[in-house]
Amino acid sequence: MMNLTPISDIKPYPGNPRVNDKAIGPVAASIKEFGFQQPIVVDKDNVIIVGHTRYEAAKTLGLTEVPVIVADKLSPEQVQAYRLADNRTNQNSEWDPDLLLSELTDLKDANFDLTKTAFTPQEIHDIFNEPTVGTPDSLAATFIVPPFSVLHGGNPTWLARKKAWTTSLSLRSGESREGAVCMSPAVQAGNLRMEGNTGGVSIFDPVLAEVLISWFSAPGDKVIDNFAGGSVRGAMCGVMGRHYTGIDIRPQQVKANEVWYTKNRHKHDLLDATSPTWIVGDVPSPATVAPGEYDFALTCPPYGNLEVYSDMPDDISTKEYVEFKELYRRAAAELYTLLKDNAFAVIVVGEFRTKTGEYYNFVGDTITAYLDAGFQYYNEVIYETPLGTLILRARKQMTATRKAGKTHQNVLVFGKNLNKTLVTPSHQNVLVFSKGDVRKTNAVVRNVFTNIDIDVEEASLSEEPDGFDN
Ligand SMILES: C[S@@+](CC[C@H](N)C(=O)[O-])C[C@H]1O[C@@H](n2cnc3c(N)ncnc32)[C@H](O)[C@@H]1O
Repeated sequence: MMNLTPISDIKPYPGNPRVNDKAIGPVAASIKEFGFQQPIVVDKDNVIIVGHTRYEAAKTLGLTEVPVIVADKLSPEQVQAYRLADNRTNQNSEWDPDLLLSELTDLKDANFDLTKTAFTPQEIHDIFNEPTVGTPDSLAATFIVPPFSVLHGGNPTWLARKKAWTTSLSLRSGESREGAVCMSPAVQAGNLRMEGNTGGVSIFDPVLAEVLISWFSAPGDKVIDNFAGGSVRGAMCGVMGRHYTGIDIRPQQVKANEVWYTKNRHKHDLLDATSPTWIVGDVPSPATVAPGEYDFALTCPPYGNLEVYSDMPDDISTKEYVEFKELYRRAAAELYTLLKDNAFAVIVVGEFRTKTGEYYNFVGDTITAYLDAGFQYYNEVIYETPLGTLILRARKQMTATRKAGKTHQNVLVFGKNLNKTLVTPSHQNVLVFSKGDVRKTNAVVRNVFTNIDIDVEEASLSEEPDGFDN
C-alpha cells in the first residue's frame, strides 16, 4: 500500500551497489516536471529497496514527504535480491531507434522542450542527426569527412562506410588481386619488396576514392586514371556520376575489371549509366588510346618496383628506379596534356625503401614530376591507413632498424592552371550513398558542397591565417 511518508523516516541502504550520482539531477528535473509518480519501495524497516535515486532527487528538491510502498511481505533475501533485480532488469532494455525518433519528433513538433525527456542535448542532436554548424560532424555531413589534411582511414565511421561500399558493390571479388597495391600492408610498411608476397593484397579504399572524387570533381565530369589497376576507382566514379576511363598496361587486369562491371553494373543506377571504361595502354599512350579532354585525374601509380605487376617490358613496375622515374615523369607530362584548365589531378603515393633501407623519395619525386609537367602543387593530404598487423611488426622494426611503422600514404593534389579560373564548378555536387542492397533500400542522398565558387587567390589570402601550415 502506498502512503506519503516523511523523507526523514526512510533510509538509504548502505550497501547499495548502484552508483547513481549522475542520475540524480535528471531525475530531480523529471520529478519537478512530471510530479512524483513512482513511489519509493522500502522494506519493513523503512530501508530503501528501489528508488535510491528518487530519494536523493527528492532531497535536492527539498521535498519533505515522498510516496512510499512498504514491501513488508518479502524475506530479507528477497529484499536483497529485488534491490539488485530492479536495477539489473533495466539494463536488458534497449531503444528502438525508429520509434524513439518518432516519439521525439512528435514532441519536437509540439514545441516541447526535448531536454525534459532526460536525453542530453548531444544525444538529441545525434538522434536527429543534425550536426551543429561548426562541428566536425557538420563538416562531415557536407564533405563525407571533415576536409582536413589528415584522413583517418582506420576510424570506425570510415571503416563502416568502407564495408558498406565493398559489400554493396562487391568490390572484394578478387578481380584486382594482381593489381592491388596501394593499400596493401606491405606497401604501408614501406620497406618490403612484394615479390613472392602472396598475402595482404587489398583493394584501393573506396571511401578514399569517394572522398577524393567528391572533393575534387563534379557529377558529369570525365575522369582519367592512367594507372588503373583494380576496379574501385572506376566503380566509385560510376556511382558518383562521373565518367571514368582507366588505363592499365595489363590486359588481364582490364579484362577482370570489365568482368566485374558486367556482373555488378546493375547494383547502382548511376554505375549502370556512367559505364566506367578500362582500356589497355601504357604510359605514353593515353592521348592515343583515350583521347579527349578530362576534368579530373585520379590514380595510384606503381611504387617503383616495390610490387612487380607483370613481366611486360613496358610495365614500369619492372624497372629499376632511375628508369622508372623517367617513365613516371612522362606519365605526368602525358596526363597534363589530357586535362582541361582548372582540373585537379590526385595522385596517391607512399614512400618506399631501397634494398639498403633508405627512402627513395618517391613522394618528393612525384611532386617534382608533376611540377615539371606544368601542374600546380595544391594540397597534400595524409591518408592514415588502418593499423592492421603494424601493431605486431612495429616493435621489432623500431628496435632493430629505427624505422617508424608507416601508417600513412600521401595524397598529392595538383591542379592545372587553377589560378586562371574558378576552382570549383558552380553546379551542385550530389553524392549518392547507398545503404545495403541498393535495389531494396532507399538511397541516402547527400549534398556535397553546393554552389561554392572560390577564387583561388582570394581563398588563399583570406581563409588561411598567418602561420597556418598547409
Ligand atoms: C599501384 S597499381 C594500381 C593498383 C590500384 N590502385 C588498385 O587498387 O588495384 C598500378 C598499376 O599500374 C599498372 N602499370 C604499370 N606500368 C604501366 C604502364 N606503363 N602503363 C599503364 N599502366 C601501368 C600496373 O599494371 C598496375 O595495375
